[in-house]
Amino acid sequence: MQLKIYKDYQSLSDAAATEITELVKNKPNAVICLASGETPRLTCKLLVEKVKKEKVDLSHITFIGLDEWVGIPPDNDGSCHYFFQNEIFKPLHFSASQTNLFDAMSGNLEEECKKIDSIIVENGGIDLMLVGIGMNGHIGFNEPGVSFDYYAHVIDLDDTTVSVGQKYFKTTATLKEGITLGLKHLQESKKVLLLANGAKKAGVIKKTVEGEITNEFPASIMQTHPNGFVMIDKEAAALLENK
Ligand code: GLP
Repeated sequence: MQLKIYKDYQSLSDAAATEITELVKNKPNAVICLASGETPRLTCKLLVEKVKKEKVDLSHITFIGLDEWVGIPPDNDGSCHYFFQNEIFKPLHFSASQTNLFDAMSGNLEEECKKIDSIIVENGGIDLMLVGIGMNGHIGFNEPGVSFDYYAHVIDLDDTTVSVGQKYFKTTATLKEGITLGLKHLQESKKVLLLANGAKKAGVIKKTVEGEITNEFPASIMQTHPNGFVMIDKEAAALLENK
């Protein structure tokens, strides 16, 4: 794992967007997994700008969504679906056939997990996974205590996730379970970027980078990834001893 500290959120997001465009220039049929949430929002905006400016062809990539709130419909603007549709798919004119998101309204969530696992295998594995970090150290919905060996799965949400997650919704949402790629996907991904910005993420970044590697703090698995990059701004780096 490598740590990269940027002067601010803008330059961090710019670097992350560049990672994506450079990957696609080298591998037009790359498999790319992105997280939704506040952190990658600017990366997505800058990605759209770069793709248009540099005329990068994204029509052959396979897009995988990291996670989704179980029971939240795709037209709810707090859903991950809604985020991806509006931040990426619509502005970049993605075709439905290249986008793969969990259907969190499905009556058969196990089948949804198998479907996404298979799509990843059939397309040769994930080339780039861009993730955020929750206030409890989760990645996607890999909550504290989760096995490092899971692929896609459904999981009960941690209390922190339920309360922090309300920030995405206009009215109080009933959040109980999440459906998510697993940490086995992260370990097998050819490259992983974990992004974090702002002082509120300084504590979780310290644990991620300098803490014990434990499934009680899922993001600590980043320390084991040979091609993993923790990309943060100065505020999120504030508590690190070695920087
Ligand atoms: C959410 C999502 C994650 C996201 C993380 C951080 O609950 N499940 O995929 O990366 O928490 O979100 P944010 O970037 O809004 O801080």
